[in-house]
Amino acid sequence: MSIDDAINFEDLRKLAKRRLPKIAYDFIEGGADDEIGLDRNQQAFRDTPLVPRYMRDIDGIDKKTELFGRTYDAPFGISPTGLIGLFRPGGDLMLAAAARDANIPFVMSGSATCTVEELGETAPEHGWYQLYAARDNAISEDLIRRADAAGLSTLVVTVDVPIHSNRERNARNGFSRPLKMTMETRMDALSHPGWLAGYLKNGLPMFSNWLPYAKPGATADDIADLVSQQVTAPLTWENVARYRELWPRNLVIKGIMHVDDAIKAAELGVDGIVVSNHGARQLDRSPASVEVLPAIVAAVGDRMTVMLDSGIQRGSDIVTALCLGAKFVFTGRFTLYGVTAGAKPGATKALDIIGREIDLTMGQIGAPDISYLGEDFLYKPLPRNY
Ligand SMILES: Cc1cc2nc3c(=O)[nH]c(=O)nc-3n(C[C@H](O)[C@H](O)[C@H](O)COP(=O)(O)O)c2cc1C
Repeated sequence: MSIDDAINFEDLRKLAKRRLPKIAYDFIEGGADDEIGLDRNQQAFRDTPLVPRYMRDIDGIDKKTELFGRTYDAPFGISPTGLIGLFRPGGDLMLAAAARDANIPFVMSGSATCTVEELGETAPEHGWYQLYAARDNAISEDLIRRADAAGLSTLVVTVDVPIHSNRERNARNGFSRPLKMTMETRMDALSHPGWLAGYLKNGLPMFSNWLPYAKPGATADDIADLVSQQVTAPLTWENVARYRELWPRNLVIKGIMHVDDAIKAAELGVDGIVVSNHGARQLDRSPASVEVLPAIVAAVGDRMTVMLDSGIQRGSDIVTALCLGAKFVFTGRFTLYGVTAGAKPGATKALDIIGREIDLTMGQIGAPDISYLGEDFLYKPLPRNY
């Protein structure tokens, strides 16, 4: 199968898997501990059926969506994912360019392998920046200042990595600092020539945003050391209040799962939250984000923009999240597999697949535009004793 033949998430996942050595593929696909959360994220969508309405005019389905005063062509964007350059050299900016061309937002990771300045050049209107707080506040504040100077509209602060999680695939594969390269890992790399050629040409990808904070002449490895010393960092509501003072435009907190945390964020003047369990990569025993979404929307939906990610593998998952009250939805692995498998055309392919599946679902349920999506489509079984 080639990227042109891919018709769904699963095809993109298989193509990405074929391109990557196991150590890299497992880093993307893996969850924490027993990986219960990965299944739960999908099952929660599957357990939420949509009830179709018929005899409506659904000609010319329109999925344009307003978010923070801007109209995007679709109700979804690209979640921040770190280390993209390891899977596809230049992949961060390929995703950014694909998002720009599709008129949807792209969130650059705090562990990106390009800089905010490059993002500002590639996708000034569609690029958002995700911050991982550094132990040294001066670094966090400088990153925020640089994202502002690059003209980016939205700062996303990820709060669900208080400590690193237990990812056992990484431990078994030797994907750690320092990297443990066994004979098996080397042989595996040799049997993935497409990936290997990119790696040999470009070398180890660099967390280049962090270059100014490293010692002069720092290598990619030195910078990776710096990042691992600085992140994770203690992060409290005081930090969020400070970021609110520093950041003049849309401030989003990513990783909120509890109603009271959502309320606190609203009280601090945060513009939006992404309800997310980090794609089941942090707390394995977390509920699916879509399970906690309705209560959060009920508590703060009229005060701030509630968005969602984690577990999106079909356009119908996005439609379901919107029916449950999310204003916007993000995808992590879906688009990451696209760019890994097929560079920028692969990223565009992923966006096309998702967009088409959203159109099909909206057509099937009788929703000509996004404003129709709501609880009317949610299946509410009568109580058993009725
Ligand atoms: C390989 C990988 C790297 C990630 N890196 C980051 C990151 O740097 N910052 C962040 O906030 N979230 C990161 N995430 C989490 C995503 O932003 C997102 O929450 C998650 O992937 C959504 O779940 P999904 O992959 O099922 O769509 C990462 C996820 C993956 C798969």
